[in-house]
Amino acid sequence: MSSPKTRKPKVCSPPRNSSPDDQHQDQDSRIEYLDRKLSELGIRIKDADTRKVTGEVFDEVTLLALYKLVKKNVITSVGGSISTGKEASVFLAGKLDDSGNEISAAIKIYRLRTGNFTTMSEYIIGDPRFSGIRRTHKDIIFAWTQKEFSNLSRTREAGIPCPTPYAFDRNILVMQFLGEGNIAYPQMRQRLPGTPAEAYEETIGLIRDLYQKAHLIHGDLSEYNILTGPDGLILIDMAQAVIPEHPRAYNFLFRDIKNINRFFANKCKTTDEHELFRDIVGEEFFEI
Ligand SMILES: Nc1ncnc2c1ncn2[C@@H]1O[C@H](COP(=O)(O)OP(=O)(O)OP(=O)(O)O)[C@@H](O)[C@H]1O
Ligand SMILES: [Mg+2]
Repeated sequence: MSSPKTRKPKVCSPPRNSSPDDQHQDQDSRIEYLDRKLSELGIRIKDADTRKVTGEVFDEVTLLALYKLVKKNVITSVGGSISTGKEASVFLAGKLDDSGNEISAAIKIYRLRTGNFTTMSEYIIGDPRFSGIRRTHKDIIFAWTQKEFSNLSRTREAGIPCPTPYAFDRNILVMQFLGEGNIAYPQMRQRLPGTPAEAYEETIGLIRDLYQKAHLIHGDLSEYNILTGPDGLILIDMAQAVIPEHPRAYNFLFRDIKNINRFFANKCKTTDEHELFRDIVGEEFFEI
């Protein structure tokens, strides 16, 4: 173990210019500097077909987070883009497994300039697990990333299918890649794992297990945030998931049930949402 006095040198930016006119150029050179540092580690973001989004997604903070994850050997390469959403982009990445073989991972990078910042605050500020965080924009995004990591861990520990989370740094989450080769599994809206009735039952089972075993409510459940893998349905996109103590937890749960019923309504027989809620929670749902 190294002593506290022999800490590794920090990756620092090149010297900053003082004039405000130079700030833009200064930021560009810091980005270039980090990009170069990453290249030295064999990470070539500019080579990937992510080029068109690099300017927006790979800002200075993100590059630094990426650099830390590479330095810590959490990831070994960054590949192509899997998805570009409003709040986050998902990329394929390389990672070493326990025997040193390179395997696929997914990295989810939360945009620091997100459009849904107010919604994020609502989910985080009502969650007692995150009551101590500062409320600046960046801090909320970092907490959001950490929240997705801990929600995925909790879901996994309860034995419910979701990507295994590997690590997080600032606005980047590294998790198990769910797919075959380089292709992600389809979303449930694109493929059902069996007959509609079977898929419906499986989805309701996931909501029930998540609540009863992991003590979580997904909060943004839909046919977009469930993937269909070879062994069945898999929950994804869990940053907004809350524990039952959240003041709006039951409203979120009821909304999740309604969303799922809406998706299956014209595919198979569905159960009344109040009945499902009662069955899962053991109490009646009252709109407050
Ligand atoms: N671990 C993963 N493995 C493979 N593909 C993934 C993984 N996580 C996400 N994806 C793909 O990326 C898409 C977007 O991911 P996700 O739903 O987590 O982000 P998002 O909807 O953009 O996030 P948000 O709604 O918070 O902005 C998914 O629908 C899925 O196709
Ligand atoms: Mg999503």
